[in-house]
Amino acid sequence: MDHPLTRDTIPAAAAAPAERRRRPVGLPALAYGGDYNPEQWPEEVWEEDVRLMREAGVTMVSVGIFSWALLEPGPGRYDFGWLDRLLDLLHSAGIRVDLGTPTVVPPAWFYRAHPDALPVTREGVRLEIGSRGAICHSSPAYRQAAAAITEQIALRYADHPALALWHVHNEYGVPVGACYCDTSAEDFRRWLRERYTGLGELNAAWGTAFWGQRYGAWEEIRPPRLTPTAGNPAQQLDWARFTSDTLLDNFRRERDILHRLAPGIPVTTNFMTALSQCESLDYWAWGREVDIVANDHYLVAEAPRNHVNLAMSADLTRSVAGGRPWLLLEHSTGAVNWQPRNLPKHPGEMARNSLAHIARGSEGAMFFQWRASRYGAEKFHSAMLPHAGTDSRIWREVVALGAAIGSLGSVRDSRVVSDAAILWDWQSWWAQRLEWRPSVELDARAQADAWYAAAWDRHLTVDFAHPEADLSGYPLVLVPALYLMTGAAGANLRRYVEGGGTLAVGHFSGIVDEHDTVHPGPYPGALREVLGLTVEEFAPLPEGRTVRLDGPAGTLSAGSWSEFVVPRGAETQWSYGGGPAAGGPAITRHALGRGSAWYLSTRLDAAGLDAVLARVCADAGLPERRLPHEVEVVERIGELGRYLFAINHGAADARVPLPGAGMELLTGLLVDGELEVPAGAVRVVHL
Ligand code: GAL
Repeated sequence: MDHPLTRDTIPAAAAAPAERRRRPVGLPALAYGGDYNPEQWPEEVWEEDVRLMREAGVTMVSVGIFSWALLEPGPGRYDFGWLDRLLDLLHSAGIRVDLGTPTVVPPAWFYRAHPDALPVTREGVRLEIGSRGAICHSSPAYRQAAAAITEQIALRYADHPALALWHVHNEYGVPVGACYCDTSAEDFRRWLRERYTGLGELNAAWGTAFWGQRYGAWEEIRPPRLTPTAGNPAQQLDWARFTSDTLLDNFRRERDILHRLAPGIPVTTNFMTALSQCESLDYWAWGREVDIVANDHYLVAEAPRNHVNLAMSADLTRSVAGGRPWLLLEHSTGAVNWQPRNLPKHPGEMARNSLAHIARGSEGAMFFQWRASRYGAEKFHSAMLPHAGTDSRIWREVVALGAAIGSLGSVRDSRVVSDAAILWDWQSWWAQRLEWRPSVELDARAQADAWYAAAWDRHLTVDFAHPEADLSGYPLVLVPALYLMTGAAGANLRRYVEGGGTLAVGHFSGIVDEHDTVHPGPYPGALREVLGLTVEEFAPLPEGRTVRLDGPAGTLSAGSWSEFVVPRGAETQWSYGGGPAAGGPAITRHALGRGSAWYLSTRLDAAGLDAVLARVCADAGLPERRLPHEVEVVERIGELGRYLFAINHGAADARVPLPGAGMELLTGLLVDGELEVPAGAVRVVHL
């Protein structure tokens, strides 16, 4: 093929289409494949790779993510020969390509010229080359070099017939989010000047009257580097926002080049929405900027019921995609290489994982990686094609999964049906994690995990939503932990309840505004009206202490936290049976307008949370789902009908009632009224 080398030779690719493409171009089926690193292998191996990809039903591979040093061996000197041959080979086999911009690992020659593009930690240590992701994203030299290689790749491959999707960078925010160097400091000051009308406003927002931190000139402001004791929380919160924005700005620069030079090809970057995997990005903001939301998810192998965490990550990903289809770009066929003990997956677990992501909205299942590396830091990471070769359990499961995914093509573009929303805000999480909170056991992520698991156990499918989003479509909204809430978010919840919604809020929510300043008056300032109560004093419990809650519907057990709650319209449902707040309200319900708002002022154990959630669901009119406990049931709905996914995580065969008749897509059998799901199996019924 004829490769244009300069911008002038690009065809009339001028203006980007008004509505960007939302799925990989030319992909006729769900995406199935993985990261493919052919540069680690002699070219003879590529033929075998492609033959085996076809055997496994691979439809798309991600290529070139870490190839900058190979593609640009010296400044401005390019070598695209190998990538040309590779893309042509993949194209001849009908395999689509998710092509990386390799900007996550600049070549060694770049750092020789620009050592100050290496990132600096909060402790002032400059990180070194020899790994990946060592980047100061405020560095002008880095930005320029990244734009140049992106432009060259776009010019070269914009019209390649294998190209389906652009994959910018890799997992922004991991392993390096913030850089604390002087260049970043300068960039931070620029960001602040755009955000605040002047130093007066900044000093007020940061509360610099406290501990005499007032700034008299912009140049005095620095990143929140190590301080002798607790640093300014509002400064740290703005720094976290600046970090997410800076990385997003870098993404946008590359995206805009790709849009300009290859307008028909959608652009993505791989998120890590699981709260255990990336902490530094505000994915609500990022979700709006990509053409297709893509996500990587890795099980914490030793965590019990890690399939619940997988479901949560998938729901969060779908939600940052605004409910639109998204794509699982990486997960693993078996063990990863970076956990303390890298456990293999059980037989069937890989398929359950992949199909659970698809059930929750993914338009495919991709892996890290196609072929296991022989060398480098990830040589003990599993792959679709393991070191053991094709005579292996993993390979047989990979081939079977390829066939299974091949039979699910019609689910593309269908939407997940959800029952409720959980409110989540990365900015609130950042704020709550800062030093000197009333208890070290206040953990927003653990709260979100626990509430999500409680919903999962009741077979509720949930979306996540931003606290200021329109919630009117949901009968039930859960707020596990939103320490930071703007007045607008508080008003939003009040409107929601008055309009007929059912709301349940966890302790230590609605306390501060966007600058980590306590809302005026009694806690919880942003939520007093909707909850119909005030909190006079926090009363964290000593480590390990539990407290009994008494109510007409039985006793419950809670721990780590209690509060002195004063009802001001709300009615007590359970009261403290012991502890510092003994006799006072623990769980309340406020009838407001046409709806109701529940408040849980302590941290319930799983049974307690389930009992309260049962009452809350009844308020919301959500019927009890009588399904086998460890069977995950999710519905997708589209123009071609309804799809019911049933995933049996348990050790016993299960039966799931069906609302009608349909075709089971993985076995090709007709089913009517009831579905058998063997232990460990997945079934997908097209109703
Ligand atoms: C991901 C990353 C991949 C690979 C993988 C290993 O986070 O994007 O390149 O390192 O982890 O699990």
